[in-house]
Amino acid sequence: MVFRATFDCLWCGTAHVVRAADDLEGYAQLCPACIGRAGENGFLRFRLKTALAERSAALANAEPAEAVIAPADLVPSPPGPPLPDLSAEMQAYYAARADEYDDWYLRTGRYARGPVHDLAWNADLDAATVWLDSLPIRGEIVELAAGTGWWSTLLAGKGVLSIYDAVEAPLDRARERLLAHGLRAHIHVRDAWAEPDRAVDTLFCGFWLSHVPRGRLADFLALARRWLKPGGTFAFIDSRPDPHSGAVGQAISSEAEVSQRRLADGREFRVVKVYWQPDELEVALRRAGFATAEVTTTSRFFLLGRAAA
Ligand SMILES: C[S@@+](CC[C@H](N)C(=O)[O-])C[C@H]1O[C@@H](n2cnc3c(N)ncnc32)[C@H](O)[C@@H]1O
Repeated sequence: MVFRATFDCLWCGTAHVVRAADDLEGYAQLCPACIGRAGENGFLRFRLKTALAERSAALANAEPAEAVIAPADLVPSPPGPPLPDLSAEMQAYYAARADEYDDWYLRTGRYARGPVHDLAWNADLDAATVWLDSLPIRGEIVELAAGTGWWSTLLAGKGVLSIYDAVEAPLDRARERLLAHGLRAHIHVRDAWAEPDRAVDTLFCGFWLSHVPRGRLADFLALARRWLKPGGTFAFIDSRPDPHSGAVGQAISSEAEVSQRRLADGREFRVVKVYWQPDELEVALRRAGFATAEVTTTSRFFLLGRAAA
């Protein structure tokens, strides 16, 4: 199979542009939705199996197929109209969503997307967890925008953890989770944009960078750099645009910076949601003063980033 960066899906005909030079979709020439349905259909299963083998061979033998992505794909988009300040609306959303937030991780309630997609999700979540666990996370650790503390239990076992979020309600869930595991952390309400009050060994953010507007990315990464001692590690996990990531019926847009979110009770909120490309984050991390930067992806759902101060 030849890797193609742009193609019409061989099964449903939908036009698709890959997000990275090693996307499985580019090898299979199937759109993400059809890849997700591969378990139901012999042709799709065959394409997927062959694409997996082709991609492994390509990664083992050569430089990834970066040359196939036109350089223009990596050029930052021209600045659009100024974004409204959605901080208060986002925080109101996460306060109201605290009790249903973990359904997203657990693929329960409105986030159950059927056995094939949920299997793929769980495999990606496992891959992200194993990746995070393998990083040199130690010493004093700060987690910004920690939410309900999904990642805090892993981090708490590796050093002295402080978890911060601008909203109290998700932190209450994080506290319960840590207590249930017999783990400790310093837990405080704190804005992710607040200036660091010390330098630490590790900084982690889960699904926060996608809430940073494009025009503020450089400022946030510079702030992340200031949180760290020389040699310290910045790690993050974030979203890739996949139609089966969010709640049923929720639209995703790789272009728009603002997305609409609906709670189970029907209330709607606007949030900033930027689907970063690995390459643009690597460039931005280096520009922010990080000595090394590596951003990879799981097969469908997540971005995994690490950078050394
Ligand atoms: C997508 S959730 C991520 C939660 C958690 N990090 C995770 O990986 O599951 C985003 C979190 O950012 C928090 N948040 C929103 N605005 C914030 C701000 N300005 N400063 C700190 N946290 C903020 C929300 O309350 C919410 O818990």
